[in-house]
Amino acid sequence: MAFGFALGKLFLCVALLLWSRAETAVIPDGVLRMECHDRYFMIAVDLSFTGDEPHFEAVDETGAYTITQQYAAQCGYSINVHPLPGHVELRASYFSCQTQNKDDEMFTFNFNLNVTQEGKEVTYPLQDKTCSPSLPWSPREVTCETNYMEVSVRSEVTCPSGTKKDDWNSLKPAHRSTTSDWQVMFQTDDEQLPPINISDARKQGYAFLLTEGRLVFRAPYGQPESFSTEVNGVPVEAVHATIFSRQSWVVLMVDLVAACSMDEGLYNESGYMLWETPEMLYPNLDGQQINVGLKGQLVAQPVAEERGYIVGKQNNTIQICIPENAERRYRKSAVEDDLYEFYVYQLYLEQILVDEDRVETRIRSLRTLATPLLPSPIFAENQTVLEEHMFTCTSETSLKTYIVHPNNTHGYKLKVPFEDPVVLQQFSKTDALHYILNINYTLTVLPEKDLYYHMESVVALVTDVSPPQFDAVCTESGISFKLDHRPFDYLWEITIDSDLLTSELADQHGYTMINDSDSLLLEVPLFSHGYEYKNVSLKGFFGTFEIIMRDLETSEVQGSTIKTCPFSTTELIMCSTDGRMTVVADLALAIPNGGNPARTNLRDKYCGPKETDGSRALFSFSSTAVDPQSSSTVKM
Ligand SMILES: *[C@@H]1O[C@H](CO)[C@@H](O)[C@H](O)[C@H]1NC(C)=O
Ligand SMILES: *[C@@H]1O[C@H](CO)[C@@H](O)[C@H](O)[C@H]1NC(C)=O
Ligand SMILES: *[C@@H]1O[C@H](CO)[C@@H](O)[C@H](O)[C@H]1NC(C)=O
Ligand SMILES: *[C@@H]1O[C@H](CO)[C@@H](O)[C@H](O)[C@H]1NC(C)=O
Ligand SMILES: *[C@@H]1O[C@H](CO)[C@@H](O)[C@H](O)[C@H]1NC(C)=O
Ligand SMILES: *[C@@H]1O[C@H](CO)[C@@H](O)[C@H](O)[C@H]1NC(C)=O
Ligand SMILES: *[C@@H]1O[C@H](CO)[C@@H](O)[C@H](O)[C@H]1NC(C)=O
Ligand SMILES: *[C@@H]1O[C@H](CO)[C@@H](O)[C@H](O)[C@H]1NC(C)=O
Ligand SMILES: *[C@@H]1O[C@H](CO)[C@@H](O)[C@H](O)[C@H]1NC(C)=O
Repeated sequence: MAFGFALGKLFLCVALLLWSRAETAVIPDGVLRMECHDRYFMIAVDLSFTGDEPHFEAVDETGAYTITQQYAAQCGYSINVHPLPGHVELRASYFSCQTQNKDDEMFTFNFNLNVTQEGKEVTYPLQDKTCSPSLPWSPREVTCETNYMEVSVRSEVTCPSGTKKDDWNSLKPAHRSTTSDWQVMFQTDDEQLPPINISDARKQGYAFLLTEGRLVFRAPYGQPESFSTEVNGVPVEAVHATIFSRQSWVVLMVDLVAACSMDEGLYNESGYMLWETPEMLYPNLDGQQINVGLKGQLVAQPVAEERGYIVGKQNNTIQICIPENAERRYRKSAVEDDLYEFYVYQLYLEQILVDEDRVETRIRSLRTLATPLLPSPIFAENQTVLEEHMFTCTSETSLKTYIVHPNNTHGYKLKVPFEDPVVLQQFSKTDALHYILNINYTLTVLPEKDLYYHMESVVALVTDVSPPQFDAVCTESGISFKLDHRPFDYLWEITIDSDLLTSELADQHGYTMINDSDSLLLEVPLFSHGYEYKNVSLKGFFGTFEIIMRDLETSEVQGSTIKTCPFSTTELIMCSTDGRMTVVADLALAIPNGGNPARTNLRDKYCGPKETDGSRALFSFSSTAVDPQSSSTVKM
């Protein structure tokens, strides 16, 4: 049986391994937040970790209870998913079913989080958390949660003195109580329903609970025994339960009333989210003190008003106006043909009322209010400065402008040089050039990753786009040309005659070319390629040099710089384009003392000088007409 034994041992090892792995399923750092608030406990878990459908279980010594929607409303839990900040939030009442309550002062919460990961359900036990709210309990407290109403009353106040603790025992939670002679009677607007026993009421979804010092009653919204009505035009849901017990000749009776404004809020054009609740929801109470805020934060009315809230009373209605851009609100974009945005406000409101005996009722309302879809225009601002030779645009997605608060825009700056291949160019007949930049902005709305495209066309107009013009100066040895670069000069090519001006061409013809980012300098020495000469005389002559600007594509001549300079010379031989050859010769050395240059001639004795002075003679002749033997020499 050695084999069987070994197998058994192996099985045990595997089981241990599995067990210890389950034990160490620990939530990674940073995805979980737990907070004790005055009147509730809050857990927020990142949706990126939980996926879209996380489940919570509430744990106590009797087991783990899955928090379904229905169970949450009956047992004092509220689960809300907030896609934009990207978390799921669980709020638990201090009197929720699985909470361990020590003397109404210390409350311990224990939850599991169930997450589907890689197709498998994984349970993460969340660490126990104990909260000791510092705010003392008022004699009566009402909570209008998003999914239930809860009222708790101090049991000493409601109990006539002398009532024994035991008398209340049957109100302990369901799984601890068996028999009960306590009855509950629901009262709607106009009708008193027949009494039922507490355990039947629990089966119908209500919760009754007796703690150390308080009696708690909780009802989901929409119960058949609750009633919906309108008070001063505000929708209200109320539940009115009277519990009573007949013990010999004494009847113990407690009235438990919860009434909540069901106003869903109204967004007005001035950018306020308005929420209303009737002033007189609870009869015979007076002395409103109001604290208000968002996302579980409460501040006193004057502080809220400093932050732009407006708290007012009108028509026996309390009106809370939340400014559109209030701190702690959520903003969400949405694509529906166009781009929109809306805001979500997790309103938290506390009203403190007193009756004529100064006995306090504290009412807390938690409401999620959302604005309708508001257009979220995108616009591009043209900040192009032509001299920079590039487009500059800031694109802004804007929120609506508010009356009192500065606008809230978000922008991007885009710079694109005019030469960039994405920039289109368009010439017009009037020497104007259009640079066109078409921008297709793509916005991705998170977390859905919906795409929104926004087209914007920016045009820059460059007027007077004439071909470049060189400045030219005459020097002793030639002509010097200078061109200051303009951004759009690349639209033309520069040629000498029909040859493109390049540094190779310059080298070949003996030009000096210096080209930097600012300017192009071209020095053309006299007699180099490209000159034309005119009016040659013994005093001097004119040399002309032309630089031609051609269309880059068609090579059509669109402009030129022509410079003519006077030059003087002692001797020269030149051929002109009309086929004439001109020669100036210094005859001083060739002719003996006293010789007269005017009497010289070429080898062809009929070919005499056109002009002479003391020592020089100028001959001009057609190079085609002369005797080949005598053509190129001057006879001296
Ligand atoms: C949570 O996961 C466990 C298995 O790990 C499963 O037994 C339980 O039913 C799950 N609860 C919910 C609410 O999905
Ligand atoms: C409550 O009343 C129902 C009948 O309406 C009865 O069946 C049930 O036994 C009662 N429960 C207790 C605990 O008295
Ligand atoms: C005041 O309340 C009455 C009753 O609901 C309603 O008819 C009236 O329009 C309200 N007036 C204002 C100014 O809101
Ligand atoms: C919006 O509500 C605020 C606050 O009550 C009010 O001052 C403003 O006049 C309202 N604007 C419009 C257009 O109704
Ligand atoms: C918002 O303010 C910025 C900066 O003052 C301004 O450039 C922009 O035009 C404003 N946007 C709107 C929509 O008012
Ligand atoms: C903008 O880009 C998107 C994605 O490439 C394209 O589908 C859309 O047609 C473009 N819009 C325009 C006006 O070209
Ligand atoms: C953009 O600005 C440039 C430079 O100021 C101007 O020439 C052009 O006309 C503007 N374009 C548009 C579309 O406003
Ligand atoms: C001179 O330099 C500029 C750039 O600085 C260039 O665009 C241009 O083509 C150059 N011109 C010649 C003739 O080489
Ligand atoms: C050049 O000579 C022509 C005649 O041949 C004359 O008309 C013209 O004025 C002269 N040019 C100069 C600048 O002297």
